[in-house]
Amino acid sequence: MSQFLVAIDGPAGSGKSSVSKQVARELGFGYLDTGAAYRALAWSVQNLENFGLELLPAKDLAADFDYKISLDPDDYWVRVGNHELTAAIRTSEVAESVSSVARIPEVRVFMKDLTRDLVAKSSYPGVVVEGRDITTVVAPDAEIKILLTASEAVRLKRRSAELSEATAASVKRQVSERDASDSKVVDFMTPAPGVQLVDSSDLNFEQTVNAVVSLIEQSGSTKESK
Ligand code: DC
Repeated sequence: MSQFLVAIDGPAGSGKSSVSKQVARELGFGYLDTGAAYRALAWSVQNLENFGLELLPAKDLAADFDYKISLDPDDYWVRVGNHELTAAIRTSEVAESVSSVARIPEVRVFMKDLTRDLVAKSSYPGVVVEGRDITTVVAPDAEIKILLTASEAVRLKRRSAELSEATAASVKRQVSERDASDSKVVDFMTPAPGVQLVDSSDLNFEQTVNAVVSLIEQSGSTKESK
């Protein structure tokens, strides 16, 4: 990966998607939402033939999972084959089943390669890549590595505001239970060595974006790639 990489990890509801997207806009970088691929695969398990959960470990996903995602922060879309899934992967049904897909070791290996390939093929001078294991597994050599957190209470509140139709119980399942389940395979709450912590519990959106952009600017290394 030769581009300038900003890797952002964090739990559900930490604001990592919206913050990463805005940081990418401000820097003229691409934005890669890596959770979308896990969600699109969970959608495929629910809606496509020959994508049963039990089939995934042995499946040749590189050949059979025709996944495409836009890295343009102003024109975000996700597709599998001819299916336009940008909205479909945000349903509660997908959110509640995605951990069972993300837990499969063979799927995680495939996703790591897929992410690296998407970054390598992009034409942006840099890419903000966000997802649970980005700083530790997918891009441990990224120029900037950030763990974006917020207290559980703040994260639940943010997710409830995003999902106006979801019940409180569903939000709790989607945030707290999914974190607990995901954390069995990826430790995304403790910053690994070289990873800088940004706690957004007491920051609004703009302040959080500014905190991330300043960390990147302080590193001084975006100058050549801007
Ligand atoms: O960030 P998100 O809520 O869209 O992530 C969806 C799911 O995919 C979530 O259960 C965590 C998992 N995931 C992962 O294990 N590793 C990533 N790099 C990104 C997402």
